[in-house]
Amino acid sequence: MNTVLEQFGKIGIIPVIVIDDAADAVPLGNALVNGGLPAAEVTFRTAAAKEAIASMAENCPDLLVGAGTILSVDMCKEAVAAGAKFIVTPGFDEEITRYCIENNIPVTPGCATPADVQACYRLGLRTVKFFPAESYGGIKTIKAISAPYHMMKFMPTGGISEKNLEDYLKEKMILCVGGSWMVKKDLISAKKFDEIEDLCKKAAAKRDEVRSK
Ligand code: 3PG
Repeated sequence: MNTVLEQFGKIGIIPVIVIDDAADAVPLGNALVNGGLPAAEVTFRTAAAKEAIASMAENCPDLLVGAGTILSVDMCKEAVAAGAKFIVTPGFDEEITRYCIENNIPVTPGCATPADVQACYRLGLRTVKFFPAESYGGIKTIKAISAPYHMMKFMPTGGISEKNLEDYLKEKMILCVGGSWMVKKDLISAKKFDEIEDLCKKAAAKRDEVRSK
């Protein structure tokens, strides 16, 4: 397992971020670090994403910053050039996945079916995203997929919150979860970084509680 995935495992909850103003990147990054969730999957869905990644990579040394919503190899190259340390795709894309593997870029492709997981397995990956997690049956589906794919670890994302976090985190095939509940877009736009930090602390406390059981 590469060091980024090891960090995913330790952090346990990867905040999924939609950012409209790159000026918010550093205060947001600091809130994540101080809140105990020192990772950011900055989604490449806004014009500010690339600059936000660059700004976090330069100014938040304790933050593991990567890019999500990567839909093409070109987007992947842009994100990595900006400073992204990992790539997340919403669906499995063989071209992007191969590009990342060949260039030693940690990649977590979105999978929703055994066919997706098989494709990733064949390319040598042992960790995938499961998306959209709750819509596709949540932990129950992951457990079913895990029967044949017992060597795979999952990063479920989509519909996860403090309410169902424990259902996922307590299972051994879950490396970490992804989610936006502690970094809602409106909180970022309103520059409520203290509130974001508090929500991260609550999530991190829940993570620690589940893992101590
Ligand atoms: C996304 O790509 O938007 C993520 O899946 C986040 O999902 P969530 O908002 O349900 O946490």
